[in-house]
Amino acid sequence: MGTDVLAGLASRSFQPRVYGVGAWTDNLHFAYDLVALLKPRLLVELGTDRGESYFCFCQSVVENRIGTRCFAVDNWRGDLHAGGYDETTFEQVSAYNRQNYANFSTLLRSAFDAALAQFADGAIDLLHLDGLHTEEAVRHDLERWLPKLRAGGFLLMHDVLVRNRGFGVWKVWADLIQRGRAFTFQIGPGLGVWQKGEGSLPPMLESLFTAPNESGDLLIEYYRRKAARLQQEITQQWQDGSIRQTAFAQQTIVQVFHTHDGAHREEDSVFARIGHESWKEISISLPARSGAAPLRIDFVSAFTTIDIASIVVGSSAGEHYRADGGREFGAIRVEGDGKREPHDKSFRLKITGLDPQLYLPILNIPETVEQPVVTLRLRISSVTPND
Ligand SMILES: C[S@@+](CC[C@H](N)C(=O)[O-])C[C@H]1O[C@@H](n2cnc3c(N)ncnc32)[C@H](O)[C@@H]1O
Repeated sequence: MGTDVLAGLASRSFQPRVYGVGAWTDNLHFAYDLVALLKPRLLVELGTDRGESYFCFCQSVVENRIGTRCFAVDNWRGDLHAGGYDETTFEQVSAYNRQNYANFSTLLRSAFDAALAQFADGAIDLLHLDGLHTEEAVRHDLERWLPKLRAGGFLLMHDVLVRNRGFGVWKVWADLIQRGRAFTFQIGPGLGVWQKGEGSLPPMLESLFTAPNESGDLLIEYYRRKAARLQQEITQQWQDGSIRQTAFAQQTIVQVFHTHDGAHREEDSVFARIGHESWKEISISLPARSGAAPLRIDFVSAFTTIDIASIVVGSSAGEHYRADGGREFGAIRVEGDGKREPHDKSFRLKITGLDPQLYLPILNIPETVEQPVVTLRLRISSVTPND
């Protein structure tokens, strides 16, 4: 089969319309091909968030002219691993779905369990499981939803390689691959592809399921190259500023690093995501003993201006820190890709790149406080506001 296996891939000319807004960027080309090859009649995704994976499935349905019925199930509130987010996400996802895919795609805003009744046993041809990533949650979702998948149907599980931050998908995946044919993409956070029982396979999947073999190696290399190119494109968009025009630019991630030893690690951070242009208040819960080293607040925000009216750290024991004006604002240190600009009321921060950081002073939070909460009142603007 050799290079033939690449020749017919639909993704050779695929340009994703929604990307860089989740952890799915590295797997989009494969997902696009999978839909084109399997031509599922019914596709269901559990865990959609901003729609990086889901809208890729939908794009494939349209561009490859497949009559798939698609459903996205999510409460659109976020979770422990995805972080919390505000209503902006659902508003944007539903508007995008309405404008582009309304005739075959339905968003079910619901808990996964509550949506079970909408699907008959054995009805789903392609199921994507991408909800909360603790082992317990994944086992629960899988147990409830596998009966909905038809014999011979396919399951996708995302993040099967991630072993930190309390992720347990990899454990569930390790058990599942004992019970059916499967392939694990070792790209990015890892994508598992599993078939329920037996059934015919398109040659592309046959090659992957029986890898290592020449065709399988070519495919893996092909998807690796496509993923790398897309990531390069995103880097380029940050460098030339065109990131502002992408779906990515419509929201901002606020990430708080709470290490007590001064080292900043992703696994010792919590985050939330908010929409732009109006004043918002977000509260992010921190673990005990936060604040012993300076809290660091990062913004992932595409060249915006951020006005911060206040930053408060409090708990059930009271208020431990408040910055809402001159002297306290002056004690906040800006590092990385951010620049403080003069403003009479707010702490105005201009984002100049990918990694702006604010360092708060060391806080004196009693060790007995179990859950400090940092609350920011802020407004994020794509252009610098006049006030
Ligand atoms: C990892 S994100 C999904 C990522 C998405 N597939 C993408 O391409 O970016 C997980 C999502 O699942 C949702 N979620 C988690 N558990 C849920 C549950 N039990 N019911 C409904 N939604 C849930 C969260 O709100 C979150 O948006």
